[in-house]
Amino acid sequence: MCGIVGYIGDRDASPVLYGNLKRLEYRGYDSCGIATLDGKIHVKKDTGSVEEINKKVDLASLPGHLGIGHTRWATHGGVTKKNAHPHLDCSGEIVVVHNGIISNFSTLRDLLLKKGHKFKSETDTEVLVHLIEEKYDDGIEKAVRDALMDVAGTYALLVFSTREPDKIICARNESPLVLGIGAGEMYIGSDIASFLKYTKKAVPLDEKEYAVVKKDGYVVKSLATGRKLKKEIMEIDWSDEVAKKDGYAHFMLKEILEQPTSVASSLNVYPEDISKLALMIDDASRVYLCAAGTSLHAAMLGEYWFSSLCNKSVIAMDSSELQNKGVVDGDTLVIGISQSGETYDTLASMRYAKEKGAKIAAIVNVTGSTAARFAEHVIMQGSGIEISVCATKTFTSQAIILLRTALALAKKKKKDVSKIEKELLKLPDILEETIKLKNEIKEISKKYLTVENYIYVGRGINLPSALEGALKLKEITYHHAEGMSGGMLKHGTISLIDKDLNVIAIVPASGENRSKTMSNIQEIKARDGVVVGITSGKPVDGCDANIVAPECGEAISPLVFAPIYQLLAYYTAVNLGRNVDRPRALAKSVTVE
Ligand code: AGP
Repeated sequence: MCGIVGYIGDRDASPVLYGNLKRLEYRGYDSCGIATLDGKIHVKKDTGSVEEINKKVDLASLPGHLGIGHTRWATHGGVTKKNAHPHLDCSGEIVVVHNGIISNFSTLRDLLLKKGHKFKSETDTEVLVHLIEEKYDDGIEKAVRDALMDVAGTYALLVFSTREPDKIICARNESPLVLGIGAGEMYIGSDIASFLKYTKKAVPLDEKEYAVVKKDGYVVKSLATGRKLKKEIMEIDWSDEVAKKDGYAHFMLKEILEQPTSVASSLNVYPEDISKLALMIDDASRVYLCAAGTSLHAAMLGEYWFSSLCNKSVIAMDSSELQNKGVVDGDTLVIGISQSGETYDTLASMRYAKEKGAKIAAIVNVTGSTAARFAEHVIMQGSGIEISVCATKTFTSQAIILLRTALALAKKKKKDVSKIEKELLKLPDILEETIKLKNEIKEISKKYLTVENYIYVGRGINLPSALEGALKLKEITYHHAEGMSGGMLKHGTISLIDKDLNVIAIVPASGENRSKTMSNIQEIKARDGVVVGITSGKPVDGCDANIVAPECGEAISPLVFAPIYQLLAYYTAVNLGRNVDRPRALAKSVTVE
């Protein structure tokens, strides 16, 4: 994962890099560092978050108008100061930051050790800087390109050298990298939001491209041929303001409570794009919704909507498994679903499918992201920036895009879906009412979410809700939670029910899945289990506590229940004193395999 930034211009580089790094901490936050150029290379780095390190070593005080920075999510080598980036070559004249994994690093390292290079860290990245040093004879640009010819793996890297103090070289292969164009200054970042404060003009690099970046401009070239490439400049319409907490204790809380607005935006985006996606789904013999984590749970909701509303089988696929179990050919449509548009496994599934001749579409939140640029048809989900590592509002938006697409396809098939359509339009108001339950949810979390193990149970379209509810709790509280169908409960897991394991039951307002889940609750109560019901319309008999959302139909109920289990996880994590926005060991966008 990791986040990287660069700056060249007339400003002091280190405060700019420090601020921009803070915006990339969602990509990793176990250590960080900055290198600037002011006659010689100045480096400060340490373990901890960007802010913690700044307090320790005053990162933002380094001299110079050119620099690079890095916030790390460790892959090769432990979380130590030595392993933190930037990394210098033996001479101290070349410096590198890198996001990705150099898969042939041990062969390269042995080779470089034999040639006398001295390594200071255990990272794969350090081979890059020594390799560039080794290749340096006709300028830094050529040295970087020659070095990358020998490198296997994924990278976004930034390099500069004291020998050519007017430029930063950056290159990309399967890890994101974007140039930001200012007036007489240039920014580089792992994503657009990192430099949004300074410029809204961006040029994302594509695979196997590199750029020579100077303060008054840039040239993008092909790594393979060295030829200049023409790149389009994107104008970004996101505002920097949305990346602020606005007085909320955490971004997660702000983002949960923003859902009435974010869903309204997703209900309005691009009807033509949605109709086109519905046609693509209709035309394909097989459709895979490829995604990871929370996005996979949104894909699972899609599975239910397409089968129940359109009689169309669409398969939600863990994107890391498409190659192992998918049947992919020219009649297949793969829809990558990814908030960041940078998740390695999801991008890999899209690339694999394209090689097999499949059609590729994507549902994405981040403008200019790799998935958005790779797919032949893209729907931007319209959630706005999501900062907290724990995905909340982007989940409901992804689900809305899928439901709207299913409704469009159902209408094409002359099915009457007007009731669901009407109810969906009321969703922003329903969610406005739902989030008013927050104080009640806070109290329930204090009273009932006090053990270390949980089962989330749901049936039908609320099975994905159970899975997502459990994921929310796990990732930010570090307590164990499993989501499963009411049907599965009896096949083993029910034996766990005791005073140390509580159950969260997700129950629609009416219908068969309500009565069947109520039977599950009876079975749990018969074994002295504690059950919190998340429901709509009226309380569920037999539960120890109920959180009752406004009445809604089962088809849209997962969208109404989402803020409830999100808030339940949120308050539980707060009660436990967890770092809610930055849970341990996680990063918002998982750009490694
Ligand atoms: C969600 O809370 C998680 N942080 C994680 O599961 C996430 O949804 C997953 O990594 C996929 O990310 P993406 O949507 O950016 O592809």
